[in-house]
Amino acid sequence: MNKAKRDAIIAGNWKMNKTPSETTALINEMKPLVAGADCKVVLCVPFVDLDAALKASEGSNIEIGAENCHFEKSGAYTGEVSAPMLKEMGVKYVIIGHSERRQYFGETDVTVNLRTKAALAEGLKVILCVGETLEQREQNITAELVAMQTKIALGGISKEDAANVIIAYEPVWAIGTGKTATAEQAEEVCAIIRNVVADIYDTDTAEAMTIQYGGSMNAKNCDELVAKTNVDGGLIGGASLKAEDFSVIVKAASK
Ligand code: 13P
Repeated sequence: MNKAKRDAIIAGNWKMNKTPSETTALINEMKPLVAGADCKVVLCVPFVDLDAALKASEGSNIEIGAENCHFEKSGAYTGEVSAPMLKEMGVKYVIIGHSERRQYFGETDVTVNLRTKAALAEGLKVILCVGETLEQREQNITAELVAMQTKIALGGISKEDAANVIIAYEPVWAIGTGKTATAEQAEEVCAIIRNVVADIYDTDTAEAMTIQYGGSMNAKNCDELVAKTNVDGGLIGGASLKAEDFSVIVKAASK
C-alpha cells in the first residue's frame, strides 16, 4: 500500500464542547498555527457552532464538519439535523457512527449505513467511525468486528461515493481514557480495514482511502502513530480543544 496515494487528514471532534463565541475564539487561535499544513485540517463541531466555525475559518486551510446527520432529508424527527441542511450551510464533512452515538444514542451498523448514504448523496465527505470495545479486543474478535462494521456501513455504496469516505479506526477503550492504542495496534487494524475496503471495491479504492486512528491521540504520541504506513492522520477529541496541541498533531501529519 502506498501512503503517497492518499491524503492525511487531521480532524478534530469537539464533541459537546464550546459555545459559538468560544468556537470563534478557538478557531482564530488555531488558524495561524495550522496555516500552510501539508495535510488536510478539519474541525467537526456541534451543530449550533457550525455557523460561527464556517465564518471564523473562511479564507483559511481549516475545513468544517458536523458530528452527525440524519438519514432522511426532512420530516418528523425532533432534534435531528439532515444532510441537505448541512450542505446548504457550506459544511464539507460529517462524522458518522462515532462510538458515543452507538453507545448512548442507539446508533447501529444499519443506521450508520443509512446516515452515510444520506450524507454522501449530498456530496458531504463522511468520517465513518469503527472500533472495538475492550471486551471485544480481549475476546480476540477485533478483526472480525471492524470488518463487519466496515462492510455494513459501506453496504450499497458505490465505488465513486466511497471516494468521499474516510474511515476512522477508534478503539472504544482508547477514547477519552488516556489509553492510546500502540502504533503497532493502530497500524494492524487500519491495515485490516484497508484490506476489507479492497475486498469490497478494489485495491485502487483501498489505497486511495484515508484511514485515520482516533483515541487519546495527543501532541506527545502523534508522531509515532501517523508515521505508520496505514495510519493516514487522526480523529482527535480532547487535544482538538487546545490550539497548541492540535497544531502539533497537524505538524506531525505534515511531515
Ligand atoms: P479523545 O481524543 O478525547 O480520546 O477522543 C477521540 C475521539 O473520540 C475522536 O472522535
